[in-house]
Amino acid sequence: MKISVAIDGPAGAGKSTIAKLVAKKFDLMYINTGAMYRAVALKSKENGLKADNVTEICKLIETMKMRFEKDDLVLNDENIQSKITMPEISSIVSAYASIPEVRKMLVKLQREMSKEFNVIMDGRDIGTVVLKDSSFKFFLTATPEERATRRYKELRERNIECSYDTILKDIIERDYKDSHREVDPLRKADDAIEVDTTGLNIEEVTDKIIGLINLKINN
Ligand code: DC
Repeated sequence: MKISVAIDGPAGAGKSTIAKLVAKKFDLMYINTGAMYRAVALKSKENGLKADNVTEICKLIETMKMRFEKDDLVLNDENIQSKITMPEISSIVSAYASIPEVRKMLVKLQREMSKEFNVIMDGRDIGTVVLKDSSFKFFLTATPEERATRRYKELRERNIECSYDTILKDIIERDYKDSHREVDPLRKADDAIEVDTTGLNIEEVTDKIIGLINLKINN
């Protein structure tokens, strides 16, 4: 049976950590769609393309060969995972992710990946747009404060200078932008199961999702 699992939710809800573990359990390819939007932001920045330069950004995307290797995004044979998770990319990515033409191109790539492989994808529009027909949809949430604490710890572990207050402000701003943009806003699909991860550890959330997937597989 071909499986595709959709995981949506706001920034810092634990989507990528959980998706990687669920991927291992069911032998799925993990596709981090946020990383793909981040790659567009990174390359646009490197090429001096502001978010209003849509034609040039689309031309740039045509030259970007993206694949996932051991959960990391490899762009034109370069592993760019650590570059795209830097705070300076987090703070500009929403502007690029809200361009309809960019979304159209990336959604097409994501659907192609899902046709070729058994996948688990995380993002904002996976259950509502990219994998609309998936039978396994989850929407992860947590309070903004809990999500900011998780991001802060993660960046500090990587020795990246950051302040909790700035991260919290960035998360609240991104929540607003992601859920209020015109194209494919962040929204729970009607048939997605909502999992509030506040106060739960990684193992508890992973077990819950694995249990729900098994329940559906066996029914
Ligand atoms: O999950 P993340 O923080 O890496 O996502 C980066 C940005 O891309 C964030 O602003 C939301 C946006 N995004 C999106 O619009 N659609 C997706 N499927 C995934 C991410």
